[in-house]
Amino acid sequence: MTISVKISAAALLLGSSLFVSVSAQAAGALTVYCGVQEEWCQAMAVSFQRTTGIQVALTRKSAGETLAQVRAESNNPKADIWWGGPGDPQLQASEEGLLQAYESPMLKELHPWAVSQFKQSKGKSVGIYAGALGFIYNVDELKKRNIAAPKCWSDLLRPEFKAEVQAANPNSSGTAYTTLATLVQLFGEDDGFSYMKKLHPQMNQYTKSGIAPANAAARGETLVGIIFIHDGVTQKINGFPVDVATPCEGTGYEIGSMSIINGAKNLDSAKKWYDWALTPAAQEIAGQNKSYQVPSNKKSPIPPEAPRLSDIRLIDYNFQKYGTADERKRLLTRWDNEIRAASN
Ligand code: G6P
Repeated sequence: MTISVKISAAALLLGSSLFVSVSAQAAGALTVYCGVQEEWCQAMAVSFQRTTGIQVALTRKSAGETLAQVRAESNNPKADIWWGGPGDPQLQASEEGLLQAYESPMLKELHPWAVSQFKQSKGKSVGIYAGALGFIYNVDELKKRNIAAPKCWSDLLRPEFKAEVQAANPNSSGTAYTTLATLVQLFGEDDGFSYMKKLHPQMNQYTKSGIAPANAAARGETLVGIIFIHDGVTQKINGFPVDVATPCEGTGYEIGSMSIINGAKNLDSAKKWYDWALTPAAQEIAGQNKSYQVPSNKKSPIPPEAPRLSDIRLIDYNFQKYGTADERKRLLTRWDNEIRAASN
């Protein structure tokens, strides 16, 4: 018997796990692996459902976890769309044959950096937003302890930041892989790894998701977090005593990306999501849910709160190189052996 489950927006807001457990996969719901913050994920699902009548089953996952899951499911894909999260793991997935090419009519409306993700992935992934990497710090705690705010990567090595810095694990988190690839590009590979070794005693935790250090800094559980700074802006707007900075030496950035899973069972609906997600109307859902990335459609208004990339000293991040399967695997193995192993 096929049971068609109607799910209200209120039920959706109860959480993605509930939604998935009662989701209407049998009724042909579109399954989305969502890589951004939970509120934005849920709002996208509700809005798409309202606009198209197509039901959405959605789970939030970090970028490295999604790659592992899509790979594990490749013989019998469960998801149709991978939406959000830094683009490098999607470039790796495209190389591994896990994604399907699709040329959306919306492509012509996008910024060159978003089209560049499309070209580098051979049409299997596209840019949906961009955001820069930096620091979040708890202003009250710093003041209480009379510590100057960090402005540079080198500042994080100051003695007063011992065990006071938090970042994610680059195996699970796209944010943390962007950090790893940024440090290697900024300082050179060996010097980048020596920096990460010196940074290790400064760390109090390697979290699973990239957004977790922003939440921890907001609550004073860590003095500093290495994050995408728009996640810090969200905490500031939520009223927490935090501020953000981008490192004086330069920093990397993400091209938040989207792709269709190879063998997607709901291909037509997946294409509808893909085209819709590139429209200004869909991209405005970000700012409405306190997500302050720079949207990829040239006509999408940039939320006034969003950090402007042109004001930041960005490196010329080599997505082509750092998104290849070999390079990602090699750097992650080196990180596991030389940095992570130091905590055991
Ligand atoms: C947050 C940010 C996104 C980013 C994502 C990566 O949601 O707002 O811009 O793409 O984290 O998550 P991850 O857990 O893979 O680091």
